[in-house]
Amino acid sequence: MTNPFIRPRRLRACEGIRRLVRETELNAGDFVYPLFVVPGNNVKQEIPSLPGNYHFSPDMAVAAAREAYDLGIPAVLVFGLPEYKDAQGASAWDAKSPVQQAIRRIKQALPDLVVISDVCLCQYTDHGHCGLVRDGRIDNDPTLELLARVALSHAEAGADMVAPSDMMDGRVRAIRDALDGAGFSEVSVMSYAAKYASAFYGPFRDAANSAPQFGDRRTYQMDPANAREALREVALDIEEGADIVMVKPALAYLDIIRQVKDRFDLPVACYNVSGEYAMVKAAAAKGWIDERRIVLELLLGMKRAGADIIITYHALDAVRWLKGE
Ligand code: PBG
Repeated sequence: MTNPFIRPRRLRACEGIRRLVRETELNAGDFVYPLFVVPGNNVKQEIPSLPGNYHFSPDMAVAAAREAYDLGIPAVLVFGLPEYKDAQGASAWDAKSPVQQAIRRIKQALPDLVVISDVCLCQYTDHGHCGLVRDGRIDNDPTLELLARVALSHAEAGADMVAPSDMMDGRVRAIRDALDGAGFSEVSVMSYAAKYASAFYGPFRDAANSAPQFGDRRTYQMDPANAREALREVALDIEEGADIVMVKPALAYLDIIRQVKDRFDLPVACYNVSGEYAMVKAAAAKGWIDERRIVLELLLGMKRAGADIIITYHALDAVRWLKGE
């Protein structure tokens, strides 16, 4: 028996050495904090399927955004629940809807906080699909103009970045053209480029009241079985003018994050979605896992896989934990 000559354990011997050789580190600047905005005033109501997250009226959304900003988180991602729904989703581009109001108020109060808005129709249509429905099918091309209207209304309210999550073909181009045509060439587009038809969105659909009323989203969101198709989707969105590309969900798709990171030179975002969050919260509530360690390990895994930006409901907790609180 010879003794090992090479000993990787030498570099694990104490915290100082471990810190020196650490390859990946999370920090507040990695995170985007999602916010759900509802109609009304003075509303802050916990979302049952997303414990620790709230429905905020536009006035209260400002306080939540300030909490993120004060922790050093660079951006919030706003989702809206509208006052009314119809077949087209007209409340999505109504300047008086909760999201547009919240964007205006947050930018006024916190001009240095980056405000990203989710651009989609599913919370706003009575059928709950992300595009127009004709004869029971999702009609791609006429939807593009509506998505462009939504993005434009967010830019007019002051959004720094719009994030189309609908998965219609050609929407990044349509949105980019509309923004440029209206003088918003500085507003950037973060596309949900590789967005899978995932069961992990369940708690979000409860929170956003956006479940489809018939069928499912598999004719527009991607098949979880496919990786090469994700690269094609990302390439297309980049050609159409995306500034940042996103992979969603994150946990079951770390391989996709890595492949996108290796193949393209744009910043890569990932979305640590509602179902991923809910699983952790439920197990933690039962006392089965150490929430703090699990969350930081999961987020670190996403960053190590290649994510430059992590959208997560854990953002506030994660930053507090990273600061040692
Ligand atoms: C809207 C949208 C969804 C999510 C983000 N934007 C739901 C969906 O596509 O069904 C999911 C976010 C989450 O689960 O946390 N299209």
